[in-house]
Amino acid sequence: MLEITHMLATDLDGTFVGDTKGLKRLIRYYEKLPYEVTLVYITGRHRDSALSLIKTENLPIPQILVTDVGTTIYEDKNFKPNIEWDEKMKQNWYPESIRKVALEFPQLIPQQLPADRRVSFVIEESGTGSVKGFKEALAEEGIPHKFIFSSGRDIDILPSHSGKGEALRFITENYTSDDTSILVAGDSGNDLEMLTLGYPSVIVANARKELLEMKEHPNLYRATQNCAGGIQQAWQHFYG
Ligand code: GLC
Ligand code: MG
Repeated sequence: MLEITHMLATDLDGTFVGDTKGLKRLIRYYEKLPYEVTLVYITGRHRDSALSLIKTENLPIPQILVTDVGTTIYEDKNFKPNIEWDEKMKQNWYPESIRKVALEFPQLIPQQLPADRRVSFVIEESGTGSVKGFKEALAEEGIPHKFIFSSGRDIDILPSHSGKGEALRFITENYTSDDTSILVAGDSGNDLEMLTLGYPSVIVANARKELLEMKEHPNLYRATQNCAGGIQQAWQHFYG
């Protein structure tokens, strides 16, 4: 991989994707810059779902694709999984025990996923009261995990050393230098970790409630425009 001078690490749904015109403008803006902006997509979707979105929305092919809320890192144009990260994800990971605890909470509807990299559920608004109970039950059982609740609807239980923030940290350690200009962009709860690593970050205007309540940090920019328009605003703010 070439040396990365500039990098956009962005969530897809509701952030990079969601406003077609804004995205076209952002891509055109990046094409005109005198340097290359390396794209890293960091999504909650699983691989096939992310690839199908890239295809249907005609998104630029990223240099690195992180799927399943930071539990898999695919590199290069042919999307080979990073083996070191895969091995890390297998340590202290007990999806069966997590599913067993979840059985006590009938409001949790299991998401059908192609692999056991994470255990995810959706919950109806009327059932959100049981989120806390589920969280406590997992902690009581002493099962190592990371608990992520997004958009008042999605619950992702991940290996404890994973998540979008940890994945981004791994990427920056392996691929960037202190001189790389980075922008991190997101709109919902599963983005919180990567938005608080301290890198220049943007919360797009259409962000979910859980991010609007997020603590400020000096490198955090709150865009007034939605989705890709907000990313462009932030890029101009930090690097324009
Ligand atoms: C995406 C994924 C879903 C996940 C959610 C929150 O919508 O498709 O599986 O639970 O993001 O991370
Ligand atoms: Mg999103």
